[in-house]
Amino acid sequence: MRVREFAERVLFSESLSEKLAEAEPQLDDDDPGPPVFPERPGRPPQLEFAAPRTAPRMPALAAMGQLEQRSIAHHIMANHELQALEVMALVLCGFPDAPADFRQGMIEVMRDEQRHTRMQMERVAAGGIVFGDLPVNSYIWTKSQKFTCLLDYLAGLPLIFEMANLDHSLVFAEAFQRGGDNQGAAVMRTIHSDEIEHVRFGIEWLRKLKPPGQSDWDTFTTHLHWPIRPAKARGGVFQRAARLAAGLDPEFIDRIESAEADQ
Ligand SMILES: [Fe+2]
Ligand SMILES: [Fe+2]
Repeated sequence: MRVREFAERVLFSESLSEKLAEAEPQLDDDDPGPPVFPERPGRPPQLEFAAPRTAPRMPALAAMGQLEQRSIAHHIMANHELQALEVMALVLCGFPDAPADFRQGMIEVMRDEQRHTRMQMERVAAGGIVFGDLPVNSYIWTKSQKFTCLLDYLAGLPLIFEMANLDHSLVFAEAFQRGGDNQGAAVMRTIHSDEIEHVRFGIEWLRKLKPPGQSDWDTFTTHLHWPIRPAKARGGVFQRAARLAAGLDPEFIDRIESAEADQ
């Protein structure tokens, strides 16, 4: 199988099991194909993006002692994982002239996103519902529609959504633990440690692809599309050590931590 075929299966299949089927260990990449940039991913009918503001909101952290509320939280997070996976497939199909090493690295990240989706789905099912029983939003996917190049992707997904998830994942791990759900907490800690590597992938490729002499920060902010802004790269409890472990510079981390919420 080629990288392009794998990416198209993730992007266009209407079967969830096909979208979550792992890539083979070695994928050929001799034919990246023409650029294709669809407005919507293929999804089974029950997981098609719902109209704005019809998907359930994230339950309060204090409600995570209730199985039903945890299941809703996992349902929302399964959809986040699936969207991240689909956006990565979109980047492989939309920017086929990306460096070969970038494309192979992306396949490895996608393996993790597929596994994360499945782990979240299992926790949804533990609450007695199935992934697709609730309406799902298109928040992360919609933001990807503004990407015009790889640097837009690197700034907008690994260095915003995945970086913010370094914080969110541990907030939820603690909330699930307090609510008595050790397995849900363990899932969130696994995602947290994988996310460190995904942020590393983002910053290392941003450094390789940025214009000579431009700082990481200036490249990052130049490639964000409003309303995405630096403050979106953090969550409830700021995890400095995880950002250092991902290879971000202390100054970059300081600027994320102190970024004004409305700028
Ligand atoms: Fe993930
Ligand atoms: Fe990730």
